[in-house]
Amino acid sequence: MDNALVTTERRGTVLRIAFDRANKKNALTMAMYELLTAALAQAGADDHVRSVLFAGSSGVFTAGNDIGDFMQHPPTSEDTPVVRFLNALMSFDKPIVAAVDGPAIGIGTTMLLHCDVVLASERARFHMPFTKLGLVPEAAASVLVPALVGRQRAASWLMLARPFDVEEAYTSGLVTRIVPSGELEAAAEAVGSEIAALPREAVRLTRQLLKEGTAALVDAAKKRELQLFMERLTSPETMEAFAAFMMKR
Ligand code: COA
Repeated sequence: MDNALVTTERRGTVLRIAFDRANKKNALTMAMYELLTAALAQAGADDHVRSVLFAGSSGVFTAGNDIGDFMQHPPTSEDTPVVRFLNALMSFDKPIVAAVDGPAIGIGTTMLLHCDVVLASERARFHMPFTKLGLVPEAAASVLVPALVGRQRAASWLMLARPFDVEEAYTSGLVTRIVPSGELEAAAEAVGSEIAALPREAVRLTRQLLKEGTAALVDAAKKRELQLFMERLTSPETMEAFAAFMMKR
């Protein structure tokens, strides 16, 4: 499937899903979320697919949600492309690998919290600029980030909206391994092969067990965050921050 903005490709047992909107730093539009959700459904239904790989393109993972799209069509219910994508990601039942090269902003970072293996190049950098945009965390980041890195570093990333580099992401446990950018694809393919060589059901059950302990908290946080996020999207703080970005102020 090649829909220009999101490309999917079967590579052996891996379905590779890539953000492909280089001129806008792979910022994600509603149409792209729909394609991503469809790609996950395809991967889930295909017995030959043992894992999914998310990748960016042109030295960018993704600049996060398209801000123009947020301004024009702010999500007002759970039944919107971005929420459908997050739900599909969070409930996906096969291992998810991410290969991060360059900036991973907003959902580009929060989606990694739902991946099983995160490979990142030396030029990967991460940023959850929600408060700067007048917003709140999403994708259950408000519980998953403090669980991963502790309350104070979580406040640094989420409340102060401080960007961080790959070393910090690796030592914090968000990134599994740092790989030179030229070797990222090969390393991701090797992880795909590693997964495919393991007994499928044991992998599935182990993955479920790893998530089970936090499942109820994650679900509650996701719902609460979404409610606040939707309210904030039309707040004066957010409208001003979005306008400043669009007008390059
Ligand atoms: N939404 C909409 N457009 C975006 C975008 C986004 N999230 N991120 C980048 N773009 C667009 C820019 O507006 C610009 O478009 P133009 O060429 O038509 O003017 C183009 O992509 C290139 O971006 P630019 O900012 O010039 O590139 P850069 O290399 O200087 O910076 C980023 C790259 C990713 C650091 C920067 O674009 C950025 O901070 N983006 C916003 C990230 C963000 O806040 N995401 C929201 C998360 S909720």
